[in-house]
Amino acid sequence: MTVRLHNELDLNAFWMPFTANRAFKKAPRIIESAAGMVCRTDDGRELLDAVSGLWCCNAGHCHPKIVEAIRRQAGELDYATAFQLGHPGAFRLAERLAGMAPQGLDAVFFANSGSEAVDTALKIALAYHHARGESARTGLIGRERGYHGVGFGGTSVGGIGKNRRGFGPLLPGVAHLPQTHDLAHQAFSRGQPAWGAHLADELERIVAVADPATIAAVIVEPFAGSAGVLVPPIGYLERLREITAAHGILLIFDEVISAFGRVGSAFAAERFGVTPDLIATAKGLTSGAVPMGAVLIRAELRDTILANAPDAIELFHGYTYSGHPLAAAAALAALDVYDEENLFSRARALAPVLEEALHGLADKPHVRDIRNIGLAGAVELTPRPGAPGARANDALARAFDRGVLLRATADTIAIAPPLIASEEHIATVANTLGEVLDALP
Ligand SMILES: Cc1ncc(COP(=O)(O)O)c(C=O)c1O
Repeated sequence: MTVRLHNELDLNAFWMPFTANRAFKKAPRIIESAAGMVCRTDDGRELLDAVSGLWCCNAGHCHPKIVEAIRRQAGELDYATAFQLGHPGAFRLAERLAGMAPQGLDAVFFANSGSEAVDTALKIALAYHHARGESARTGLIGRERGYHGVGFGGTSVGGIGKNRRGFGPLLPGVAHLPQTHDLAHQAFSRGQPAWGAHLADELERIVAVADPATIAAVIVEPFAGSAGVLVPPIGYLERLREITAAHGILLIFDEVISAFGRVGSAFAAERFGVTPDLIATAKGLTSGAVPMGAVLIRAELRDTILANAPDAIELFHGYTYSGHPLAAAAALAALDVYDEENLFSRARALAPVLEEALHGLADKPHVRDIRNIGLAGAVELTPRPGAPGARANDALARAFDRGVLLRATADTIAIAPPLIASEEHIATVANTLGEVLDALP
């Protein structure tokens, strides 16, 4: 007889993040174990993971090499502070990341999540301008529908209304670029849409109103994941780079989900051919196995801060767990796996397969847009009148019942399988979603 674990669990105390707690606790879904592409529920059902956990398990679940590295590290050195002390793993990992990063981004600062990486990047941007004697540069520019985590910095530059409401005035001096997705001009684009590069010119307008000498940085996701896979129009990121450079404004890419193979390269910056001044990343860095975030920084920024520091400690910022030994071991092992199994090129090769499979759903009921980049895709549904999000949620529940794990933001269903996925896995995901849509009210 199958024992339903959640019947024995008291679900009350755990206030679940970004979750409909009341609904969940009436119908809990508990994942008990996972391996490769598959998660297993407590009642023994198998689910094909089409979202890499939460955009993070790029090497699949419980990869033996990553598991072994964490085990070994846990028995050797559980913890060493990175404040005025060090351990080999953090240095090795930083060197490795600097070697993979776009040219010039040779300094690495460790955090423990995407949110912390983003807030660290924003603070380093301000510290850099301060160190150069441009202390008036404190303004930050994000983008509508941008998601940069849940710290006060990331929430402030983030552009998803519900994530901001109810949390007070947030940071002062923040402006937002217009979002880049437009159904009228871009629906059913494959890869980067042709329309929309001009939306980057809004930056010129914002900068002119605010005075460029007061703006520290612009932060964008190269492609927005959490808001529903919003792919940058051709030429858009290039234009942002030109405008920021012209005004001495730093460009930060939030690559928390776009790095480590998601678009077929180590960083999306490489794939899109645009080099920012800072990259915030996390998630796939350890393939989700241990929490870790990192900021990759143009070395000149770091060197400027170091050279102009009035104190022995040059940057009064850091985390108890910056460069944690377990996280560093997991990350080094994940990077080995990505290399040894050629997972970035595998993602590149699978991208057209995912594109075909998803765009094959174009004629299914309720579908009003399909978009894709690398191993990420979205199927956007027409919302039910008066009930935004309900249709996609319903689709998710039905896919779950059919053994496929998906995610949704409002009425957009996201697909981002681990890079180890096979063509058959992708076909199963698309077929299941197609069957779900056929029957969906
Ligand atoms: C682009 C982006 N930035 C930041 C974050 C926040 O990361 P975390 O949840 O690890 O704090 C996320 C999480 O999904 C993200 O997608």
